Amino acid sequence: MSDAPARDREVVAGAIFHGGRLLLAQRTRPPALAGRWELPGGKVEEFESPQSALVRELREELAVEVRCGARIGVDVPLSRGMVLRAYRAELVSGEPVALEHSQLRWVDAEELLSMDLVDNDRAWIPELLEELSAL
Ligand code: CDP
Repeated sequence: MSDAPARDREVVAGAIFHGGRLLLAQRTRPPALAGRWELPGGKVEEFESPQSALVRELREELAVEVRCGARIGVDVPLSRGMVLRAYRAELVSGEPVALEHSQLRWVDAEELLSMDLVDNDRAWIPELLEELSAL
């Protein structure tokens, strides 16, 4: 863990759509978020672009190769000046495996609305639903 101040750091999350569904991942940590669902992702490291961070995080967490696409939805402010941003992620190779989450689920629009998403990710529901209904 770095001692660098977290201020102005970015967290990226990836929306992977496939076969008319969106991939959600169930968190294992911290205790307050364990069991809740999110778009997989993580912190951008120093000197790393958000796009490279997304590719790295999804490789580490899901064992897939993705191409980072367009932004989706609003910037979500986190604590200590951090900001959370979602990007579309296109699967290039591999089948997602839950290496760091407790499970994965491919959801359609109706299921997305019934999932216990982490609060931050709820900000993107309108755009995610729009995308799912267009697929
Ligand atoms: O894996 P890493 O430690 O780099 O990051 P993380 O713990 O997955 O995410 C960093 C912060 O962003 C945490 O506070 C998460 O709760 C938040 N986050 C989120 O709200 N929604 C996501 N889809 C991904 C991360």
